[in-house]
Amino acid sequence: MNKQEIIKKMTLEEKAAFLSGKNEWQTRDFTRLGIPSIFCSDGPHGIRKQAGAGDHLGLNESLPATCFPTAATIANSWDVDLGEAVGDALGEEAMAEGVNILLGPGLNIKRSPLCGRNFEYFSEDPYLAGKMAASYTRGIQGRGVYSCPKHFAVNSQEMRRMAMNAVVDERTLREIYLTGFEIAVKEGHAKAIMSSYNEVNGTYANENKHLLKDILRNDWGFDGIVITDWGASNDHALGVQAGSDLEMPNPGLDSARELMEAVKSGKISQEDVDARVECLLDAVLTLTENAKHRVEVFDTEAHHDLARRASIESAVLLKNENNILPLKPKAKVAVIGDFAFDPRYQGAGSSLVNPTKVEKIVDVLGQYDLQVVGCTRGYTRNGAEDAAMRKEAVDLAARADIVLFFFGLNEISESEGLDREHMRIPQNQITLLQELGQANANLVGVISAGSAIEMPWHHYFKALLHMYLNGQAGASASMDLLTGAATPSGKLSESMVRRLEDTPAYRYYPSPERNTEYRESVYVGYRYYGTAGVPVLYPFGFGLSYTTFEYSDLQVDDKGVTLTVKNTGSRKGAEVVQLYVSLPEAKVFRPERELKGFFKVKLDAGESRQVRIPFDDKTFRYWNVKTDKWEIEGGTYELKVGSSSADIRLTGTLEVAGTTEQYPYHTDHMEHYYSGQIHEVPDREYEELLGYSIPSGKWSGQLGANDAICQLYYAKSGLARFAYKKLTNMKKKSEEAGVPDLNILFIYNMPFRAMAKMTGGAVSMDMVHGILDLVNGHFFGGLGKVISGYFRNSRANKRYEKKLKELKNE
Ligand code: BGC
Repeated sequence: MNKQEIIKKMTLEEKAAFLSGKNEWQTRDFTRLGIPSIFCSDGPHGIRKQAGAGDHLGLNESLPATCFPTAATIANSWDVDLGEAVGDALGEEAMAEGVNILLGPGLNIKRSPLCGRNFEYFSEDPYLAGKMAASYTRGIQGRGVYSCPKHFAVNSQEMRRMAMNAVVDERTLREIYLTGFEIAVKEGHAKAIMSSYNEVNGTYANENKHLLKDILRNDWGFDGIVITDWGASNDHALGVQAGSDLEMPNPGLDSARELMEAVKSGKISQEDVDARVECLLDAVLTLTENAKHRVEVFDTEAHHDLARRASIESAVLLKNENNILPLKPKAKVAVIGDFAFDPRYQGAGSSLVNPTKVEKIVDVLGQYDLQVVGCTRGYTRNGAEDAAMRKEAVDLAARADIVLFFFGLNEISESEGLDREHMRIPQNQITLLQELGQANANLVGVISAGSAIEMPWHHYFKALLHMYLNGQAGASASMDLLTGAATPSGKLSESMVRRLEDTPAYRYYPSPERNTEYRESVYVGYRYYGTAGVPVLYPFGFGLSYTTFEYSDLQVDDKGVTLTVKNTGSRKGAEVVQLYVSLPEAKVFRPERELKGFFKVKLDAGESRQVRIPFDDKTFRYWNVKTDKWEIEGGTYELKVGSSSADIRLTGTLEVAGTTEQYPYHTDHMEHYYSGQIHEVPDREYEELLGYSIPSGKWSGQLGANDAICQLYYAKSGLARFAYKKLTNMKKKSEEAGVPDLNILFIYNMPFRAMAKMTGGAVSMDMVHGILDLVNGHFFGGLGKVISGYFRNSRANKRYEKKLKELKNE
């Protein structure tokens, strides 16, 4: 049967059931129609296919897979070929394990360094994030597996992520939060997209016609499937109407009934359902066909080597006084730090990979030409001070010429499901560092951290190598770099600020109530620091090498820039050439400079090469809220070519014609936006930016289906407040143990409605409303509703299942 014949044969019951998941990871199959089920799996930097029953939160271990460096790490390579190679390996492993859709990459913008999930995202810059996401997508999809870029859109906060409304003006939305997805769709040809948990301007992302229809499908020409994040469906019928194809994971048949009723009542049309069925069916049939002759093995060693190369090319050398690095042969070193024994090489949450193997510094050290005077942990992982451990480390440091100190953020500091409260590394590591500094002046630091950290201690180090979260082969990659077997070539894909208070969203993040106000507008990351003149420690795009590069001969024409880059040092290396665009006399406010192109060039010692960075449709555009279109402001643009956002080596100019005379803003009404001093934008200006009054995010006090479980704190029912206390204690305990417990974090931030969306049909929305009555103080009424809802739900489920079975036997 072909697609059309299948659709013709499908009853409304089957269509409705098809549009939501069968279990944690699979879609429903219908044998009579020849529709098989397809398998989705996390995650962005390794396959997390659970061997036994799927449970979302990873209670069952997943099959061994290569753990590549996380997105935050690989973004520092600025190498789209590397991104594609990693994508290809991910696609190959997915295929081998029978996975049809890989849930990644994640490319939400790092609006604040506090977002607990930044380790899984590429950058603070949408252009870089988009290019990297497109490269992963090309690689993954080249293997016949769909890539599913996520989380669409404006999901830059973990706190109450499922019950939060992002209030963001259209220009900021388009320029900052959507451009990366646009590139992933247009250049990566992503065939799936994951809609995010949050609301965007008052409408859930999964029901947001503006996002899913106007922009994704109509403007960008997306022809794939939209899958909800796990539990992100609010009103399934409205989701379907807006263009969302598949509700995941397993709402049972309650969502299907909701859909049928919506068609019957005229809330949505039959055509709405048919359009989604056709789209999803196309994906299921294509993916099944792609997997027909799949190879069930992959070369674990080759992938481990690729993980090592990826880690090498993504490491950022932040500092190297007196060229202390690379280490000389036979250098007498002490190896200190718990991370040298137990590496911190990946993040926590749904992306957690069960690696095929994991290297440790202490195990690989012997392969390098060094005199190792000793290795010791020096500090405890969970942050507790330990004077005896410190003393042992300090004594060891005193006996070496150089100390290699392995340190950074511990597991509990960053995770899916939580936002950080500060940007500090654990104090016990700092205490040790201060003492090591007294014992030995030659400290070399190797950092592991998935997100930006404050480094008020950086002066203790002669050299600092930032490895981020570098995957299962990170130890040999680190040693290759330290010893000079490889040369660092990574550049920061996010700014390293001096202190949290300097960050643009400092006063707006995370939101205290339901709404998160994106008052800082387009001034995210370096766009803000560069415009407002806020000094940072290490700027966006920065990274040192063991060699040096000279830039010359910039030529600008109307299609791009050309220049020559020469390796002026004595060893092979790679340079990331970055193109920033400015319009000094702009009438429409804009960041002082914005990244619009880059190229990584690999050069032998003494070699020079011509580099071309072409312009594209994004080079000069801005979103004009008056004309409701991308426009170009006419004027003399500066094309700045540099080695980082703060190290511009060559500048050229180009006269560009404007596309409209209609200017969207009034200079005199928006002084903070024009100056870039957006840390405290008054209401009046934010309203001018939004074009409407600031919506109220106030919360009434009555708990609703979309309020998060952590709001049980406010519940009228004593029993519910007790449940809150219990859960909070459990969360605290897991934090003290030093390992984030995703189960608890997930439940903590989950809205009540998710009980019906993630329990395989055991709980219906009716029952959820009963539970809400109960927690809001109407104990008996609520309990009655829950009990009657339970029986109604199981009767309805049975009837529906019977109907599907009858059809099956027809
Ligand atoms: C995460 C997604 C992930 C999904 C499935 C959600 O909680 O936000 O990124 O793909 O779970 O594990």
